[in-house]
Amino acid sequence: MENTLFEKTGAAAEFIAEWSELRPQIGIVLGSGLGAVAGQLKNATAIPFAEIPYFPQSTVPGHSGRLVIGTIQTVPVAVMQGRVHAYEGYSSDEVTFPVRVLGRLGVRRLVLTNAAGGINPALRQGQLVLIADHINLSGRNPVAGQQEEQFGPRFFDMSEAYSARLRRLAQEAGRSAKFELAEGVYISVLGPSFETPAEIRAFRAMGADLVGMSTVQETIAARQMGIEVLGISCVTNMAAGIGKEPLSHEEVIETGRAVERQLAGLLDRLVPLMGG
Ligand code: HPA
Repeated sequence: MENTLFEKTGAAAEFIAEWSELRPQIGIVLGSGLGAVAGQLKNATAIPFAEIPYFPQSTVPGHSGRLVIGTIQTVPVAVMQGRVHAYEGYSSDEVTFPVRVLGRLGVRRLVLTNAAGGINPALRQGQLVLIADHINLSGRNPVAGQQEEQFGPRFFDMSEAYSARLRRLAQEAGRSAKFELAEGVYISVLGPSFETPAEIRAFRAMGADLVGMSTVQETIAARQMGIEVLGISCVTNMAAGIGKEPLSHEEVIETGRAVERQLAGLLDRLVPLMGG
């Protein structure tokens, strides 16, 4: 029987390794409305989250809840189609469980995608933005509390949480796909209510360009394990008080759906640059 997080993630990784013969070193997490990218994989096998030992289940519409293992341009990848969020009531250990499992499977580079609200008025709805850095306002940290040294040190450097090398490669992939990638600072909140205009003004003053309800805990867990992280936000809406319309989850999903082909095109070019 597995008791520790290290043992549980090990059991999940073993289960996945038995399911597929591919040994991906690149992991991809698909955010709200962005799940169709998984359909582009070749030689794909899909494992429902429910089948994987100890895996958390997403309760949010727009998140389908499968781990798809396959290839992009012959490079093996492990793609999380859907994720779980702290606002669903999940603990930090649960939110970051899949990323830790990917790490134990051998993933060394991780692409975290998400839907985000645009705070910087220079951004526009439907734009893809590389995360240059983050501000963790979620009140959570996956490394707080339990101390399982097998995952990495308790105190570790976060001065380049989002790899400059991977951002350069993404910019190169973006240029070859003929679209421009902005870069910005992502601030994470717990949610699930959207922000007030006063909160967004405060976040702007703090230096944030984007706001969202995911990603930072996964980044922290990945960095503890020494995994290189690339973050890509899709601006699904302008943040509260920046645009004129009231915000809705439907709009988030709709914009995500409109942009997912662009994201797929980017990943098609980026993954070979990132290597196997
Ligand atoms: N705020 C927080 N999270 C989000 C938003 C937003 O405006 N859009 C998509 N995810």
